[in-house]
Amino acid sequence: MTIPDLQKKKNEGKKITMLTAYDFLFGSIVDEAGIDVVLVGDSLSVVVQGNPNTLPVTMDEMVYHTRIVSRGVKNGVLLADMPFLSYQVSNEEAVHNAGRFLKEGGAMGVKLEGGSPMIDRIRAIVDAEIPVMGHLGLTPQSIHKFGGYKVQGKGKKEADKILSDARLIEEAGAFALLLEGIPAELAKKVTKSLSIPTVGIGAGPDCGGQVLVLYDLLGLFDQFVPKFVRKYADFKKLAEDAIRRYKGDVEGGKFPSKEESY
Ligand code: KIV
Repeated sequence: MTIPDLQKKKNEGKKITMLTAYDFLFGSIVDEAGIDVVLVGDSLSVVVQGNPNTLPVTMDEMVYHTRIVSRGVKNGVLLADMPFLSYQVSNEEAVHNAGRFLKEGGAMGVKLEGGSPMIDRIRAIVDAEIPVMGHLGLTPQSIHKFGGYKVQGKGKKEADKILSDARLIEEAGAFALLLEGIPAELAKKVTKSLSIPTVGIGAGPDCGGQVLVLYDLLGLFDQFVPKFVRKYADFKKLAEDAIRRYKGDVEGGKFPSKEESY
């Protein structure tokens, strides 16, 4: 799978599948399961590092995780999320940091959040031959501006802004657009008005593809579960059960057995 293949999928009316991964093991599992795009999301700040939001994770930490995920991704498109303050300050910083994900992390492209103020950044990164996925709607790096994780684009003015920002992002050369936490009708309208594919999360069924945080899908992270998450497994319960049985066996002298010894 390559970045141009994603446009091909859209043109053929096929849905794009995308999931996050943060390490080699899950990167390889997601990839072997045939997912089109593996995103090293800045959500790792929350689900891996235990921070309250995505703001604290650094460039060096994101590059490290991208590099270890890249060792497991053999077929899919590997994207890295540009963390807060790695692209907002200047075009130069944005290009340099985006480039690190390709040079040091093994990614094929980057994702960054924001509309009209970020258009120059997107253009500069694309001009440096680095593919960019845009990200609009409930952009988690703007949590303090929004006053929490609130659905965006509910009013007409806000919705029109998201639509016009989406067009600007396409014009700036982005290869795809992620839509997060917006009404399904708005996501449908944005998707119809663009020629690049959209990928949704909390954006209804009419986007060109879907993304989820892997640990939400697996039921591993349960501290905050948004309405749009579908839990396909209960890995947290499975892990806790296994660990409790191990503890019981060790304390009860049942592990290790003779057969498990040298
Ligand atoms: O960081 C992340 O996990 C994201 C999600 C929208 C998939 O950007």
